[in-house]
Amino acid sequence: MGTIVIIKNNKGGVGKTFLTAQLGAGLAGLSKKTLILTSDSQNNILDYLFHGENPIFTKGLKAEVNKKGDGETFLLRKNLYFIPLESNTFSTSFVEKLPKYLETLRTEYDYIFVDSVPTLKIDKTFLENADKIIIPLQANSVNINSTLQFLNEINDDSKVAALIINQYTNTKIKSKYKEFLEMSLAGKIPILEPIPTLAFIDKMLDCRKSIWEYKNKTANIIQNNLYQLIQLIEFKQ
Ligand SMILES: Nc1ncnc2c1ncn2[C@@H]1O[C@H](COP(=O)(O)OP(=O)(O)O)[C@@H](O)[C@H]1O
Ligand SMILES: [Mg+2]
Repeated sequence: MGTIVIIKNNKGGVGKTFLTAQLGAGLAGLSKKTLILTSDSQNNILDYLFHGENPIFTKGLKAEVNKKGDGETFLLRKNLYFIPLESNTFSTSFVEKLPKYLETLRTEYDYIFVDSVPTLKIDKTFLENADKIIIPLQANSVNINSTLQFLNEINDDSKVAALIINQYTNTKIKSKYKEFLEMSLAGKIPILEPIPTLAFIDKMLDCRKSIWEYKNKTANIIQNNLYQLIQLIEFKQ
């Protein structure tokens, strides 16, 4: 049975889509059949991984859920699939049918990732049906306060596989906030080694390459960080 993983925080610009794309590409590279879904109709996953101009589609997740199999699925890499989201409005029938649909996906894929948005909307349903939650954040007071608040809102924080600081630089302030976060959680939830700020992110986005397609020192650090995260995702309770 496939594992559902949601990458969530109630903040924008923290690296949810970046992380989802890299984790999806990583597991697909390990020969796991992987699907990426999103609750963000901007469908930025395509900007990270789709080769060529973004495809025009009319039917995505909403069509797929409302009439099983009617949505479009895009192949991003070998073993890596993506179902886009048409818009940000959801009918009651869609919300009601979503949990059952997610269950059927478990029989078709090894991993199902959800690239989320800062608001709850359908993420409430994704959170309830996910096996694991991964929370990216940045090492600053605003992000940490929001993250602690988000952790309070989650009923079952045993689902939280890890927190991961993204866009980290070795400055006094960032390291102060990193320590503050570690102290606030006091070993309750794993906090992984931070992902550094990538100097070549624009290049990556321009060629739509994943971090696994690079061989350099920084890429190697990030690949190792992500590999730790993959091990937590693969770990079954
Ligand atoms: N580790 C990183 N280093 C440099 N830039 C990053 C890193 N992670 C994300 N970004 C950039 O920061 C911006 C926000 O990331 P994104 O994943 O789109 O955030 P979210 O999905 O949480 O709104 C994007 O332009 C992305 O390319
Ligand atoms: Mg995003």
